[in-house]
Amino acid sequence: MSKSTAKASSDTALIKYWGKKNEELRIPENDSISIVLDGLDTVTTVEFDEHFTQDEVMLDEAKIGSSSVEYKRVVKQLDRLRKKAGKNGLFAKVVSKNSFPRATGLSSSGSGMAALTFAAAKALGLELTQKELSIFSRLASGTACRCAVGGFAHWMGGDTSETSFSKTIFDKNHWDIRDVIVVVSDQKKKITSTQGHKSAQSSSLFKPRQKGINQKIKDLKKYIAEKDFKKFGELVEADCLEFHSVLLTSKPPLVLWQPGTIQVINEVQQMREEGIECYFTINTGFNVHALTLPEYEAEVKKRLERLSLVKSIILAKVGGGPKILDEHLF
Ligand code: PMV
Repeated sequence: MSKSTAKASSDTALIKYWGKKNEELRIPENDSISIVLDGLDTVTTVEFDEHFTQDEVMLDEAKIGSSSVEYKRVVKQLDRLRKKAGKNGLFAKVVSKNSFPRATGLSSSGSGMAALTFAAAKALGLELTQKELSIFSRLASGTACRCAVGGFAHWMGGDTSETSFSKTIFDKNHWDIRDVIVVVSDQKKKITSTQGHKSAQSSSLFKPRQKGINQKIKDLKKYIAEKDFKKFGELVEADCLEFHSVLLTSKPPLVLWQPGTIQVINEVQQMREEGIECYFTINTGFNVHALTLPEYEAEVKKRLERLSLVKSIILAKVGGGPKILDEHLF
């Protein structure tokens, strides 16, 4: 019997990846940069035991049925790691808890799969390098490839499994950016990112976006290095809108925003006119990340939580990579 627990944080992409060159290996069409978010966390305990007769998965207090997509995704990742450790057929119990609503566009698969990978690798006695952990995490979830490293993370898209991994380009202490995360709904989204990526190339705006991505990556790195929040925010917001334009013009169109999403966008723009520095970004979903600086955080929170369509607010800041914990969930 061997048991291990890991905590990993989700992230929000600043320059987003969309579309895959290789679906099975999750090799993205483009590089991406994100900040890993301390405040959007998953804790996962994995126990392997030769007495178990099948894998068992509990997510947020509920047992996950073996025919569900979530169960199969977890088992597939366990299989990759079991194979690497030469322990095929050794079943596991997995218990995972999120500090935030899952499947609502807050990239729970990123923190979930990074936590699973770190906990399972440790429980299996695997000694993996940071690059290997990023690659293994990527095979289970694109976002997890970045969550596996922490801080300001750059996922180098690459062309092969070996060349597609993430690096921390600036650590979590480099720049204190705050993320006021606005939950406008905690209903599960209708389209998962995995489904969405498949239709990326069907948008006439996909290729034009791709053409500009490398320049955006270069510019964003510069703005982060210089801590130029205005240029940083304008670029992040522009990439978010360009990404959602690709979604809107995909076949079939992916219209993910809800009325609350628009209400938050309008308020962020209004605050900026009043000199409160904040910028929005939205992943594949409807909940909004309002990025700001520490001096504006309280005001941004106050302004957003009083909007009629806002359900709740989560505060997050730049976080580190996954950690192994001594305390287990069971
Ligand atoms: O990693 P996935 O399959 O959940 O896709 C993530 C897609 C975006 O969040 C929209 C972009 C990104 O880079 O995280």
